[in-house]
Amino acid sequence: MSKIIRKTEELKEWRRNLKSDINFIPTMGNLHNGHQKLISTAKSSNCNTNLLSIFVNPLQFESKEDLKSYPKTVDKDIEIAFSNGADVIFIPNIIDIYPKNNKSISYLKASKELSSALCGLTRVGHFDGVCTVVYRLLKLIQPKNLFLGEKDWQQLLIIKNLLEEKKFNINVISVPTQRDSDGVPFSSRNNLLSKNEKEIIKLFSNELSHAKKIFEKDKKIDLKQLTKKLESKNISIEYLEHLHPYSLKKVQTKDNISILAGAIKCGKTRLIDHVFLMKRNPIIAIDGPAGSGKSTITKLIAKELNLLYLDTGAMYRAISWLFKKEKINYAKESELKKILNDISIIFKSNSLCQQDVFINDFCVTEAIRSQEISSIVSKISSIKKVREFLVNEQRKIGKSGGLVAEGRDIGTTVFPDAELKIFLTASIDERAKRRKLELELRGTEEIDFNQLRELISKRDFEDSTREISPLKKAKDAIELLTDGYSINQMVEKIINIYNLNIPKEIQRE
Ligand code: PAF
Repeated sequence: MSKIIRKTEELKEWRRNLKSDINFIPTMGNLHNGHQKLISTAKSSNCNTNLLSIFVNPLQFESKEDLKSYPKTVDKDIEIAFSNGADVIFIPNIIDIYPKNNKSISYLKASKELSSALCGLTRVGHFDGVCTVVYRLLKLIQPKNLFLGEKDWQQLLIIKNLLEEKKFNINVISVPTQRDSDGVPFSSRNNLLSKNEKEIIKLFSNELSHAKKIFEKDKKIDLKQLTKKLESKNISIEYLEHLHPYSLKKVQTKDNISILAGAIKCGKTRLIDHVFLMKRNPIIAIDGPAGSGKSTITKLIAKELNLLYLDTGAMYRAISWLFKKEKINYAKESELKKILNDISIIFKSNSLCQQDVFINDFCVTEAIRSQEISSIVSKISSIKKVREFLVNEQRKIGKSGGLVAEGRDIGTTVFPDAELKIFLTASIDERAKRRKLELELRGTEEIDFNQLRELISKRDFEDSTREISPLKKAKDAIELLTDGYSINQMVEKIINIYNLNIPKEIQRE
């Protein structure tokens, strides 16, 4: 299907008859590699109809001059859009979107909080204009997914907020900023620059990327010094801010991820760029009782998001296995201290791309899943010294982040500053059913459903009432009940939440 629609009435008619869902890519034309990435991402995401709109929205320009000079290249845009995977292109004119004397047009206001920083400070009314047009387009098109670039990070946050406020059931899929080989982000306004002005934006983007590298090392940034440096290079700064990436409020010491964003003037053209700064890579904490589906789900998330998988339960099980094997009298402090000093637990990927667990060079992957270990692990994991030892080991593994950890105290104790905390639960019956199936598949032991149900209840009680690090939902964790959901549905749900909480740009750094 390659179709161009120019009139809203025609679009409405086409929409009424469309059977599939829509991926919507709103643009103002003058398509560049950033837009191409949006279209190709939409195309590769699903089998929906990909609709791209080209509409230079006058409401979001502060001056007539800026609107007039905005590059317009519709014929070339059509070619680029279709060749990258657009099925339908909607090219309305102004009267179609804003009919004269039409009282039903809602002129919207952007979120006050989000538009009172960065570009909102000088581009008065700009984001109101963006909200007004996006709202009109969404009402007309009724897409399932909306594709937006992270290049306009503030716009992305404001549109997400608009969708929430208006209770639109539309997924926002963001695409990382696309940069040219010289580090400058693709932007339609780059076409307005002279050779010298291009050098200025290049200097600016490269300085931001340099600041990011310094931040990775020093974990702090001196904004005043950076501003001075940029000014000494004749870069005319409109703003340069270091903020929380989602609230756009001043960054706080506790924030792991932040945004360093700026706008500069290159001659008459105003350009923006940003980098995300991170003290460490993101961490996902997944806690929950036995049988909630944690392990399977966490493994799949790690694979999908290319994160390290930290199975803390396996570490407690491995220690339990060793204590049993060495017949350790763990009630005796000196014996406990001695063995803990000598323990090394490592995870290694095996030829089946799964993780093997080794304790003191013994591969215990299978052995630690036996019912025998299941029945002692809760007791052993409630020993203060054991917990202290393992929490310390887990923090060492997670020092630079980039992992998804599962357990019972990840969000509360091990990584209380994790970017995303999930608390997975399931009813006792559902968990007993899953455990029974798991044991049957392994073909190791016969165990009755009711007996399993009892064991699980007992384990829940022990885990949630133990003195040290009891199983407890962290205050800021999102609770998800897995009953009735397939593993894949749950994985997708958590990945969607992750995408809403972590900019795509830094997900795979
Ligand atoms: O980012 C843009 O190109 C525009 O602001 C948008 C979202 C198409 C609204 O006019």
